Amino acid sequence: MELRKVAITGVHGYVPDYILTNKELETMVDTSDEWIRTRTGVEERHILKEPGKATSDMGMHAVKGLLEKTNTPASEIDLLICATVTPDTIFPDTANTICHKAGLNKAWGFDINAACSGFLFALSTGSLFIQAGRYNKIVVVGADKMSSIVDYEDRTTCVIFGDGGGAVLLEAANEGFGLEDFVFKGDGSGREFLHMKAGGSLKPPSHETVDNKEHYVFQEGRSVFKAAIKGMTETIKEVMSRNSLSPDDIQWVVPHQANKRIIDGVANMLDFDHSKVMMNINKYGNTTAATLPLCLWDYESQLQKGDGLILTAFGGGFTWGSTYLTWAY
Ligand code: ACO
Repeated sequence: MELRKVAITGVHGYVPDYILTNKELETMVDTSDEWIRTRTGVEERHILKEPGKATSDMGMHAVKGLLEKTNTPASEIDLLICATVTPDTIFPDTANTICHKAGLNKAWGFDINAACSGFLFALSTGSLFIQAGRYNKIVVVGADKMSSIVDYEDRTTCVIFGDGGGAVLLEAANEGFGLEDFVFKGDGSGREFLHMKAGGSLKPPSHETVDNKEHYVFQEGRSVFKAAIKGMTETIKEVMSRNSLSPDDIQWVVPHQANKRIIDGVANMLDFDHSKVMMNINKYGNTTAATLPLCLWDYESQLQKGDGLILTAFGGGFTWGSTYLTWAY
């Protein structure tokens, strides 16, 4: 069976209107604008405040915008995959809700839970359906309403995260550019450093879990910080070596936006010029599964056909990896 090459043929993003600034956070927890900027690079983040709105609504906006700008009829989408750790509900999944809200009446969907690596894992999963010739148009969404699982009394986490969603369209490549290769890794022993303690089958919700604030993100920042730099650097090196790439072959590095110091650390270790490393953590914070599509969306106008891109992410699980692609439009 001949495998088809798969390309990203469009990208769109959505962030909610409300902007939570560092100044406002100063009134909520014992922190300062200076600490947040210098230790994380975040200046502000968008928060979905509207009652009754969830991750699927941000995904829906991103998908509707994507279909509009690529002139794609909703009925042509075969499958939608949503990467998220903040699904609207534990079940059903958020992907099918997005399909319903965005009017994708022929598509089916499912969610992928791989925290900050979710979008990368979903991108490769989706591409396989097209590669194999089974489908022609797939939408991959990365969306998270992190404000729904962040404790706004915990200064070590609440300053980092924000809400948002992004979506890309995948189609068979027609000019030879597209997804080239990936290296993905996982290590379940890392779960102790980054997780939500309760709400799942291990510890179902109870009055006690709520009283103990166990439905929020727990993170041991320093351990995650070190593992993130190591994991992203190693998988970038591996994917570059497998494809005989030098830094000159890469026009853009698209890193998960968890902390500016992590991004700078990865760029330094690999000798990448910082001007080709995408960065928007200052305005969105860490939007978990949404950071990579939001970067592509923000930088879309600067991308040239044939540009070499490396997308890289590290997140809860632990999960991490890097994807090499050539930009198709
Ligand atoms: N304001 C002021 N001081 C603070 C704040 C704050 N918001 N947060 C922490 N501090 C203090 C700490 O209490 C500590 O004080 P102490 O020395 O008196 O004990 C001091 O600052 C240093 O704390 P550290 O935790 O060592 O701070 P660090 O420089 O490591 O920054 C951070 C913390 C931003 C969380 C960083 O460790 C980080 O970015 N970690 C990785 C995040 C990441 O990559 N996550 C993965 C993706 S998320 C996902 O998958 C859902």
